[in-house]
Amino acid sequence: MFDNAPLDEFMDHHRFLGLTYDDVSLVTQYADFLPADADLSTQLTTGIRLNIPFVSAAMDTVTEADMGIAMALAGGMGIVHKNLDPSAQRTEVKRVKYYLNGFLVKARTISPEMTIAEVEAMKREKGFRFSSFPVIDGNRRLLGVVTGSQFRYAASEDLTIGEIMRTDTVTARPGISMREAYDILLRHKISILPVVEEDGTFAGIYSFKDLRRIVKGKRGTECVDENYSLRVGAAVGPADRERVEILLESPVDVLVVDTAHGHTKGVIDMVKWIKTRWPDQQVVAGNIATGDAARALVEAGADGVKVGIGPGSICTTRVISGVGVPQFSAVYEVARALRGTGVPAIADGGIKQSGDVPKAIAAGACTVMMGGVLAGTDEGPGERVLIRGRQYVVYRGMGSLGAMQQRHGSADRYGQKDVDSPKLVPEGIEGVVPYTGPVAGILHQFCGGLRASLGYNGCRTIAALQAGARPVRITSSGKREAHPHDVQFIKDSPNYQTGENGD
Ligand code: XMP
Repeated sequence: MFDNAPLDEFMDHHRFLGLTYDDVSLVTQYADFLPADADLSTQLTTGIRLNIPFVSAAMDTVTEADMGIAMALAGGMGIVHKNLDPSAQRTEVKRVKYYLNGFLVKARTISPEMTIAEVEAMKREKGFRFSSFPVIDGNRRLLGVVTGSQFRYAASEDLTIGEIMRTDTVTARPGISMREAYDILLRHKISILPVVEEDGTFAGIYSFKDLRRIVKGKRGTECVDENYSLRVGAAVGPADRERVEILLESPVDVLVVDTAHGHTKGVIDMVKWIKTRWPDQQVVAGNIATGDAARALVEAGADGVKVGIGPGSICTTRVISGVGVPQFSAVYEVARALRGTGVPAIADGGIKQSGDVPKAIAAGACTVMMGGVLAGTDEGPGERVLIRGRQYVVYRGMGSLGAMQQRHGSADRYGQKDVDSPKLVPEGIEGVVPYTGPVAGILHQFCGGLRASLGYNGCRTIAALQAGARPVRITSSGKREAHPHDVQFIKDSPNYQTGENGD
């Protein structure tokens, strides 16, 4: 996105050479800050900012609701795959969006006949650390609320809740946004806001403590929208108009028009169609690898573009078609064409270790999309399997036979929507990756690696690295030197496993 003359000179020097992450290394530069002070926030699209530059891939063994929640809680975002019935995909999106809503449907209620002593005993027994309760009758109608001060200043423990409760209760109707609820709680200085149906039936509460935690957030962590709901995206195909309509019945932060070849009429028409009908909807389109493609998608209205033709760990596109551009060069070509447009590039596929991420950013990407790195986590939907006593998780390409053949399969991503199953020509494989525990642990290592890199590069932000990185071309001996060499591994490391040098 930013001018970087030394990078241009370096790339012009390698004009007819396709470079990938392993072909380059970044040179150290003077730093006046510590890695811990680096800022990892970045644009995913023109209108969406992430706290960390990581997006989980729209693949059926990578992103459903659990992955989307974990990614957004960590500050990134997940893109829910489309090998699903559209309404099932929308349900996954909604699970992410409403995960942090702060609305307690199963709030603990009490009846007006209970005495203070009984409520205190219940609190002790259940270990409740809150003192505000909605009071309801046998028909679940809201009668009032009791809070800590009514308990504190009550004359006797034998009084009933009905005698001490407040009946001048501030309430809200269902459908109120978290922001509105928070503002009411603040304005009235109250600890709970009961939500009541039109007929007086109690529906749940917003609690001030919960909402304050969400609204104030742990700075730099959750990635939320203006209503403090987690952000999430959903993939659609170039001919998926009905899917788009179904998805947009409820909020989706970004739609990703996801194909193996994004420089096509189908993708351009789809982007135009979405942006004409829903001008405020953020749309990413891909995948591409050239400046011409980037310009065409921006002209169509894309708010972000996705780069990557064949770099993925499960991809065989380059092998079966002879087409594709090594990822460092592809990201550079696209990002250079995007300069001055304000539209960010997502580097999709080919990330193996955390050091690949600053290289993608150095080439001009604002974020990276990862499949293989995240597929082995607890939050991935892939099936767990035991192989010779070790745990693995199934990870497959969206262009693999299995992914294309299933109901709502991904054959359209590879232009084979109407092809009979036996005639499908796969562009991906089905495999397994090692089980790696929670997403948070993986992202911790990747953020740590990226912070270290920003420190070495003397660039405090993602934008500064895009503008200031100084890549050098390395040889196969340079790559060998970069990896551990001439030693036997005796311990596993959380961010490096034996065999990662690709030998
Ligand atoms: P990584 O390297 O992160 O790559 O595992 C994930 C990305 O790979 C793309 N993808 C495919 N590309 N055939 C391909 O050529 C496939 O079957 C396939 N499945 C996924 C996709 O862009 C994903 O985000």
